[in-house]
Amino acid sequence: MSNFTLLIVDWYRLNKRNLPWRSESNPYFIWLSEIILQQTRVDQGMAYYLTFTKNYPTVLDLANAKEQDVLNDWQGLGYYSRARNLHFSAKYIQNELNGVFPTTYTEILKLKGVGKYTAAAISSFAFNEKRAVVDGNVYRFLSRVFDLDTPIDSSAGIKEFQKLADTLIPEINPGEHNQAMMEMGASVCTPKNPKCNACPVNEKCLSLAKNTINNRPVKKGKTKTTDRYFHFLIFKSEENTIIEQRIGKGIWQNMFQFPLIETLNINDKPDLTSFKNKTFESTPIKHILSHQRIYATFHHFDSLPDQAAQKRLTIKQSDIQEYPLPRIIDRYLEEQDVF
Ligand code: ADE
Repeated sequence: MSNFTLLIVDWYRLNKRNLPWRSESNPYFIWLSEIILQQTRVDQGMAYYLTFTKNYPTVLDLANAKEQDVLNDWQGLGYYSRARNLHFSAKYIQNELNGVFPTTYTEILKLKGVGKYTAAAISSFAFNEKRAVVDGNVYRFLSRVFDLDTPIDSSAGIKEFQKLADTLIPEINPGEHNQAMMEMGASVCTPKNPKCNACPVNEKCLSLAKNTINNRPVKKGKTKTTDRYFHFLIFKSEENTIIEQRIGKGIWQNMFQFPLIETLNINDKPDLTSFKNKTFESTPIKHILSHQRIYATFHHFDSLPDQAAQKRLTIKQSDIQEYPLPRIIDRYLEEQDVF
């Protein structure tokens, strides 16, 4: 078993939510839970799961139910074709499969309303078949840990993520690995404000290291506008100041700027404890680019840092216009009469 699986499965065992279908190996109950959870969140889905397992304790009870009753019990979840497919598939199992729920991925995939994700979930949870699940949670988690920018709604992306998930899933307890992957996405690697501090694989997470968390996963459907929070440090001593050149791809390539600390969230404060003589902090200034909204805060200091960091240049304040500066810095200098 890989280190990756060990880390997330250990975390899962300690932190998993206690959900009734998780202690089930009955494939029929797991199927019900997965179809319901395609339609709603866990907290709302719970009541429906309890209703369905109580009113239709076996797949034959569901097959013999009146469609109207099944639809009534589904009421509130919406997308009624899912309920009709459940009922249809229960009758198919009764009539074509001797009433026995199918036991392999391939056979489960033949049920109406069951796609690859659901077939992988049922076959791995109920029968420990080694089939990797890739749902929205897993897309997000993988795109961040491996810093993948292939759009998840493209055919190339669907293939790439499935292939990656297939290489990660272990021989032993593949079902638990799948649950752990999904739970990571649902409760740690969340769309907004992921809890990276609590993440068992944060040391391996490439997008955490590269600060691309908020840009993962990528969707081609729409080019998302992302928010970024920049803190520029303006150091002044006598006639000098400090600038640095931007490296790498991305905005403002090769241009110059004041030393920059970027934070992931609007309320995060940069760590400025090693800099002395702070005199002023601007309010965040919004700057809109084609796909990014920059919120820049300028922090002023009346001295230079003790140790000049690498790649930083000490220059004369009066020479700053010799360097190409992003518009937001140029404008700030002009409007605030900084030097
Ligand atoms: N969402 C979809 N399937 C789930 C499961 N088995 N547990 C928790 N959330 C889910």
